[in-house]
Amino acid sequence: MNEKENQSELLNHLHELQNSHPQQYITEEALNQTTQKFGLTKAEVYGVVSYYSMFSLKPRGKYIIRICQSPVCHLMGSQSLTEFLKQKLGVAVGETTNDGIFTIEHTECLGQCGKAPSMMVNKDVFTELSIDKLETLIEKLKTEAK
Ligand code: FES
Repeated sequence: MNEKENQSELLNHLHELQNSHPQQYITEEALNQTTQKFGLTKAEVYGVVSYYSMFSLKPRGKYIIRICQSPVCHLMGSQSLTEFLKQKLGVAVGETTNDGIFTIEHTECLGQCGKAPSMMVNKDVFTELSIDKLETLIEKLKTEAK
């Protein structure tokens, strides 16, 4: 296997570990298991995990809300959506609510610039967002999480 294939297998493995954890993060145990499986040092695996923003070493919420911060969404008001979310959920970007339901994160362009501002909630993309739309979605997700 060449280096590129190894890297790709490592990333897939880390994705699987993260996705299979109910709190959507890579645990210390998972890091250790990865070092053994791939014959890497802990620092090497840690380097990969911290390089890619899609990986987390902290427990995250059931719903990870990723607001696009790229230029078009930024121009179309993604900053005020972020401010609204921070206020509504009482957490900063990168943090998880105490009830473990929501985590707020930022993301780069989601390829939905024509329908900006956009965001993802887990694997679903939402576009043409407004504060009203966002508030309705948050309430719906809160109800579903119970
Ligand atoms: S800039 Fe936000 S989807 Fe492209």
